[in-house]
Parts: sequence; C-alpha cells; structure tokens
Amino acid sequence: MTDILDEIICDCSGTTKAKINQLIDDGKDSFEKIASATGAGTGCGSCDVLIMDILAEKSIEAPIKN
Ligand code: FES
Repeated sequence: MTDILDEIICDCSGTTKAKINQLIDDGKDSFEKIASATGAGTGCGSCDVLIMDILAEKSIEAPIKN
C-alpha cells in the first residue's frame, strides 16, 4: 500500500510529500528554500500550488513566489 506521504508532489524532480514535510521541519519554510533544496517547482511549475498547500497545511504563512 502506498502511504500518502509517498505521493509525488513534483513529477519533474520526483519530490515526495514526505520529503517536503521533512524539509519544512528542518526549517526550509518557504517555497524558495524547498525549491532550491529539491528542484521542486523549478521545472514546469505545475506543482507550485501543491507545495504552497503543504506549507499552508503546516501552518506557515503562505510564501510569495518571486
Ligand atoms: S511538477 Fe514540479 S516543476 Fe514540474
């Protein structure tokens, strides 16, 4: 069974929800920090909203993407 945390958020970089959650817990609390750590959001950009949603889920102020 696939855990929901194994869900791929960014197809371009293969970044999972679990990885993004881990990065947020490690202090990477903005879209830019997650993007630079994983490459997520730096390809087609279709995962941007999903990354923002995860940040919001973790009660972090929604970052502004430059
Ligand atoms: S799916 Fe994340 S940049 Fe394309």
